[in-house]
Amino acid sequence: MIKKTDPLNLAGKTAIITGASNGIGLASAQMLSAYGASVALFDVNEKQGKIEAEKINAEGRTARFYTCDVSSDEGCKAAVNAVERDFGRIDVLHNNAGVTFRKDVTELEETQWDLVLDVTLKGIYLVSKYAIPIMARSGGGSIINTGSGWGLKGGDKAAAYCAAKGGVVNLTRAMAIDHGKQNIRVNSINPGDTDTAMLRSEGRQLGVEETQFLAESAKGRPLERLGTPEDIAKAVLFLASDLSTWMTGSAIVVDGGGIA
Ligand code: NAI
Repeated sequence: MIKKTDPLNLAGKTAIITGASNGIGLASAQMLSAYGASVALFDVNEKQGKIEAEKINAEGRTARFYTCDVSSDEGCKAAVNAVERDFGRIDVLHNNAGVTFRKDVTELEETQWDLVLDVTLKGIYLVSKYAIPIMARSGGGSIINTGSGWGLKGGDKAAAYCAAKGGVVNLTRAMAIDHGKQNIRVNSINPGDTDTAMLRSEGRQLGVEETQFLAESAKGRPLERLGTPEDIAKAVLFLASDLSTWMTGSAIVVDGGGIA
């Protein structure tokens, strides 16, 4: 007989969220802390990250900000080890930091290609490299990698980003295969256009007026609106929780039906 339990309760767990000072990562940190997890916010934006961590603490929850550039091996090692020192364990890792340039391959500078791949794809490898042994020591956990609809299909003028996000989706599968025996589940969430600073900056890069760009981004989705960071954070909560105990290696699409 299935009994009613509380599978969303994350009390006693520690979660790292990268790119947590803004947007989807911030909503994820707020969501996971609302369900009881202690949250470690990683970001390069120290000023905003500290403010957001304080706001979470002011709600009587537990949050701490760590300055971490996810493209730096040394930086990731130091930040992940600091989380273990401060909280004693890591149960959830949401690899979410990402950057984009709306350019095709003929327009992209090599430095821009490198930045997109380093932050969006290599960052997942680096944070996971240091977090997985710690997770394994406390019995396993859940890793959630932020992909994109454009990791599952192509998109215009986002060559480096599409390459990175395609990599995220398949890196997720590879990590799921390698770390299942350590009871570590690894899944990707793949958002469609979500109203954050990143999406608005894409409109500016493409030279489209903001209201028009946001309206165009919402158009054609069965649910007829943009995503909110909270919409995406709900899927993160599901994957972090015991509601998804037999899910690993999957790519969940959260996009108002855009890809459908
Ligand atoms: P955002 O720009 O609002 O937030 C990204 C955060 O990442 C910022 O706080 C930024 O400081 C941080 N960051 C940038 N470089 C970093 C680095 N080297 N190390 C650590 N942190 C760094 O962006 P948003 O929209 O919240 O995006 C979050 C993730 O969601 C990204 O991976 C993005 O590609 C993905 N995504 C977003 C969509 C959208 O429509 N907003 C759609 C599909 C995927």
